[in-house]
This record gives sequence, C-alpha cells and structure tokens, in this order.
Amino acid sequence: MLIVDLISLAWFKTENNTLTPDEKKRQVAKAALEYVVENTIIGIGTGSTANYFVDALATIKHKIEGTVASSDATATRLKSHGIPVLDLNGVDEISVYIDGADESNRHLHLIKGGGGALTREKIVAAVSKRFVCIADDSKLVDMLGTFPLPVEVIPMACSYVARELVKLGGQPVWRKDFVTDNGNLILDVHNLQINEPVALETKINQIIGVVTNGLFASRGADVLLLGSDDGVKMIK
Ligand code: A5P
Repeated sequence: MLIVDLISLAWFKTENNTLTPDEKKRQVAKAALEYVVENTIIGIGTGSTANYFVDALATIKHKIEGTVASSDATATRLKSHGIPVLDLNGVDEISVYIDGADESNRHLHLIKGGGGALTREKIVAAVSKRFVCIADDSKLVDMLGTFPLPVEVIPMACSYVARELVKLGGQPVWRKDFVTDNGNLILDVHNLQINEPVALETKINQIIGVVTNGLFASRGADVLLLGSDDGVKMIK
C-alpha cells in the first residue's frame, strides 16, 4: 500500500493548524484536477465533495470534451458552470470518474449512497476507465459498516427486501421522504459486519427487488485521495 503526500496545502490551515471537513473536501477536490484527462469525457459523482470538484473543474472546462453526471443535482450544478453534460447512452468511453464516498477501507472498497445517487454512480463508475475517489480523511476506516449501507429498492418490494436484509444480519431503515432520481426508495442498513465486501455486495444485489446497493467493492476505486491537515494523501 502506497501512502504519499501528494500536495501540501498549508494555506488552508486555520490558526490551530487543523482544517474543517469542508476545507479538506475543497483541498482534495482541487487536487483531483491532476487526474482530469484533457479532451476526454469525465464522469462526475454526487455529494458535497463532488460539488467542490465541479466548482474546481469549471476553472479548466475548456480543456475537456464534456461530462456525464451521476445525478440530476450534479447535472444542474455542471450546467450552471456552463460545463457540457452528455447522455451516457451517447458516450463510448469515460476516461475518469471522480466522486466522493461515505467510507473507504484500505483496499479501496467503498460505501456510497449517502446522497441516494448510488445506482447512477455505480453505472458511471462501471463505464469509466479509472475511478478516483476523493474524501476527507475521516472517511478512511479499518472495516466498512459503521456508515449504514444504502440499498436502492423498487417501491413494491420494499418490505420483502427489508425482511431479506434482516436475515443477512442488518437492520434496514426506510429513508423517509426520499425518492431516488430513478423513482425508487432507499433502505439504510445498520449494523452490518462487512468482513467480505465483494461477497456481500453480490449477495444483496441478488435479492429480488434490489436495484443496487452502496457497496463499491467488485469495482472499487483505483485511487483514493484524502484531504488531511498534512495535505492530500494518496492510497492506491
Ligand atoms: C452520493 O450518493 C454519495 O455516494 C456520495 O458520494 C457520498 O455520500 C459522499 O458524500 P459527501 O461528499 O457529501 O461526503
């Protein structure tokens, strides 16, 4: 495992030498510009860290061909900066996908979907050649599962899927007053012991009625950039 300081951004530091989570997100989003491949299409994630990346990307928007967004919210933000947003069905190749995460382990298996965009995020990540995950350093964990695992579910299957998730040892909680961009519901599954992320990702996806789950383990990140008080760290 390689952990190196990529960039030291001392000017972000506050008086007591610590950065707020938002400052770390902004720092790491800016560092991710290094991974943008010129004259190609870039996949863009969803959430507060991805939002900082969109704002940074606006400064070099003339250098890219366009973007594919992982949510309606991200598409709106990209368009507000005048960055072209393309339909994935008209795109053959995405050079790099840049997105945040709710948790990452050191193998770069992730939990995502805190913002409910997990299915489109997983689709854009699948099409992309490289996945660069950007986060503040609080997201790095020894074992996944403290953050409740989001599962997107077809509405009529919600109770059935919840019962099946209980059999797997989890405690599913329906995300109230929330509908995904695909018109579905989210169950947030608490107290899962995620010792084998790839196996659990596959098992949950096999429950009838599940659209997808927020484990990104079969296709995890290729690079993880972490904003920290000591600069941006990289794990790959
Ligand atoms: C959105 O559905 C999520 O997968 C986000 O990528 C994740 O929740 C990270 O969000 P923040 O960047 O806001 O922490």
